[in-house]
Amino acid sequence: MKRIAVIGTGYVGLVTGTCFADLGNRVICLDIDAEKIERLKQGIIPIYEPGLEEMVRRNIQAGRLTFTTSYEEAIPNSDIVFIAVGTPEGVDGEADLKYVEMAAKSIAEVMDHPIIIVNKSTVPVGTGDWVADIVNRHKKNDVPFWVVSNPEFLREGNAIQDFLNPDRVVLGSTDREAAEQVAQLYLPLRAPIMVTDLRTAEMIKYASNAFLATRISFINEIASICEKLGADVKEVAIGMGYDKRIGHHFLDAGVGYGGSCFPKDVKALAHMAALHGCHPQLLRAVMEINRDKRREVVQKLRDLLDDLNGKTIGLLGLAFKPNTDDMREAPSVEIAHLCRREGAYVKGYDPVAKETARKALPWMEQAADPYELAKGCDAIVILTEWNEFKHLDLKRIRELMRQPIIVDGRNIYEPEQMAELGFVYRGMGRGY
Ligand code: UGA
Repeated sequence: MKRIAVIGTGYVGLVTGTCFADLGNRVICLDIDAEKIERLKQGIIPIYEPGLEEMVRRNIQAGRLTFTTSYEEAIPNSDIVFIAVGTPEGVDGEADLKYVEMAAKSIAEVMDHPIIIVNKSTVPVGTGDWVADIVNRHKKNDVPFWVVSNPEFLREGNAIQDFLNPDRVVLGSTDREAAEQVAQLYLPLRAPIMVTDLRTAEMIKYASNAFLATRISFINEIASICEKLGADVKEVAIGMGYDKRIGHHFLDAGVGYGGSCFPKDVKALAHMAALHGCHPQLLRAVMEINRDKRREVVQKLRDLLDDLNGKTIGLLGLAFKPNTDDMREAPSVEIAHLCRREGAYVKGYDPVAKETARKALPWMEQAADPYELAKGCDAIVILTEWNEFKHLDLKRIRELMRQPIIVDGRNIYEPEQMAELGFVYRGMGRGY
């Protein structure tokens, strides 16, 4: 049993803190948002993450998980302190580190015994050294501390599973013993643990996300070529994936990646590279292809409808991916704006992202279900591959639409089947 503090109760901090508590540690989660902490104390979680609320409640009841807004309460009672605060996109794609800085200062001010500070937020390479410097400058007591980088590889919507069954745990530090102390926390998970230096650990996180984003842009470029040459990108990806060196993951062509991680991290890595005299050509192409994919969807609508002016477009799926209500960098936002700008009436439906979609697209009408969405639509665009969309009564959908046009931005349906049902159907990269 270790005494752990987690600063930041966003999805990374909350999942990390709760899972460590579930593994038998005593965890205190801290956030400066008093309202959020009050709700968390009652077991009400601020995000949609399957299984998390139940796990939070279980660990509160067991007395292993507590919440506070006070550094004076959290730090003196902990030996390992995780920083898991947000690092929003700042100027020029550079990560904004103001919350990391605030956390480091606040820890330093109340630190009264030796602690290990673990950075979990995705931070530019070199931030670990910077954090150590801040703590050194602000600490009131002369006690030793160590900084460890421990990047997270959690996917939203799958975060608990990813935490409990990691492919690897990466730890970076200038002090091997400190890294090994943190490694102890992960031993019950029986995952490969890699210990390296601080900067390398920080880089592993960016390189991993950038590589996954590259796979997506790669298959999306192949999709555009498939469309022109009459090949089917879905089958191409399957054929490629059998090669063990390639594998099947992250080769789903569609409207491109969104979310709070890939867009921000690829941009930040490109920015860091350029700042240090490198020319990140591949990263730039990855971002460009991703941007163009969203526009391509609107172009498909133009091709099918001649003109979007006065047409009704239904967006089926609004969240940036299934099993989350997260609308950050969701393709739906840009596509909704583009259609509206061309005079279309845009409405949307998502089974979970309702409140978040209202905030991101306040002007957009939201339908109560996919059938209500379909009513009077000249075209439906599928933007999130929620399972429930795979089992819709498509005949009913077609009857409710003004024109039976579907642009499937996630390739959830089969072109032949859709043609048989009487739809004018366009997928992404599925020939003509
Ligand atoms: C991603 C990484 O997968 C995690 O390992 C990482 O920890 C996390 O970012 C982070 O840095 O915090 P996440 O953003 O939750 O996780 O979502 P993913 O499931 O990776 O999907 C990202 C985007 O790529 C989504 O918009 C998804 O629709 C898109 N995608 C994914 C595709 O378009 N095609 C694919 O084949 C896979």
